[in-house]
Amino acid sequence: MTIPAALDALDQVLGQRLSRSKPDLDQHAASETWFAAAPPDAVAYPQDTDEVSALMAICAQHDCPVIGWGAGTSLEGQAQAFSGGVVVDFRHMDKVLEINAEDMDVRVQPGITREALNTELRATGLFFPVDPGANASLGGMAMTRASGTTAVRYGTMRDNVLGMEVVLADGRVIRTGTRARKSSAGYDLTGLMVGSEGTLGLVTELTLRLQGQPEAITAAVCAFPDMGAAVGAVIEVIQTGLPMARIEFVDAAMARIFNAASGADMPETPHLMVEFHGSAGGVQEQAKAFGDIVRDHGATGFDWATRPEDRNRLWEMRHRAHWSTLASAPGKRALVTDICVPISALAQAVEETAADIAASPVTGPILGHVGDGNFHAILLFDPADAEELATVKDLSHRMATRALAMGGTCTGEHGIGVGKLGYMQAEHGEAWAVMGALKAALDPGNILNPGKLVPQGG
Ligand code: LAC
Ligand code: ZN
Repeated sequence: MTIPAALDALDQVLGQRLSRSKPDLDQHAASETWFAAAPPDAVAYPQDTDEVSALMAICAQHDCPVIGWGAGTSLEGQAQAFSGGVVVDFRHMDKVLEINAEDMDVRVQPGITREALNTELRATGLFFPVDPGANASLGGMAMTRASGTTAVRYGTMRDNVLGMEVVLADGRVIRTGTRARKSSAGYDLTGLMVGSEGTLGLVTELTLRLQGQPEAITAAVCAFPDMGAAVGAVIEVIQTGLPMARIEFVDAAMARIFNAASGADMPETPHLMVEFHGSAGGVQEQAKAFGDIVRDHGATGFDWATRPEDRNRLWEMRHRAHWSTLASAPGKRALVTDICVPISALAQAVEETAADIAASPVTGPILGHVGDGNFHAILLFDPADAEELATVKDLSHRMATRALAMGGTCTGEHGIGVGKLGYMQAEHGEAWAVMGALKAALDPGNILNPGKLVPQGG
């Protein structure tokens, strides 16, 4: 066994910052979703790039798995140590290194969370727009190509990472990208690293694009008689080109949970939650245009929130959807799944999914970032009931295959990890083997997050 030898060598480099204590291992064993706990052999807490590089060289020498860890909020098992090894927790590498207000970019360490970053940016008039809901780390968000409620306006992590410093499997430290807004200089290694889920390297620094804080923001929630009406309204609003900052769908089951969890007073029907960013006059005009379109689709009960506290309450409720759903069914766990389809297929995808869940014995609210054609089901099951687990897995499987059949993807934002490995061949065909070849070229010993994302055992 080579892991013990790696840990002995790591002790020399990291001292106290390598932990094998049970609480530390347990804390880094679980994920927020349904995968069984998988404790690593040790947790490393590096404090700079040099330490990450030294750690990687040692682990390469001893064939010891290395798994990056930001906030532990990924949903497909990306940060779990299913083959043991060392989890590298970036909590001490959480600084803002440089703010370039004129260029609207920022250089950060990977362990900073998006809320901490935005708190630090507040006085500059700038903000970082990608918002997956959870208070995830920027390193983890980059590595899973996270998106969330604001991607419809500002894009995903793919569009908002300008460059990175990455430690490769052999300990080399490379920089990808520059601070220029665009470049035609060679392969796009930033694009390759974003979404690589820690299988090609560990990110130790990120340069991110920032946005100006909008002068005015207005948000609203409105009810629809049925799902088809709500989704039809979204499609028409998108086709009109209204610049929405967020457009979120929740179904009747989710509205019921919001009422119970957050004291909302929503009719138990499907809803849209929308937000506009711009000048005071601009957002007013957009809100009016939005209202005119969706009323034609049967929208009622508009509630416009222009005060920050009212908007915060609205988005806080949306961000808590996952945890509120779990709280609504004590003792249950959730298989949270995620698909994304071309916008023209959205209504059919949502309706078929809803019908499938309704015909099953389990509960599963549907919600999503419908402006991107992306939606989730939070499928509840009893962990002691093998049949219920099989039911929710089947439902999730049918969602993924439905998305692929419609020209979509098995995941719009939660990524592959181990949960979606089974769809990679169907989605990518021979291109998946090319991903495997890139992985083998950059990590010939397969120490970086083994078991995830690329073809296994080849
Ligand atoms: C959300 C997470 C589950 O949208 O992606 O709430
Ligand atoms: Zn989401």
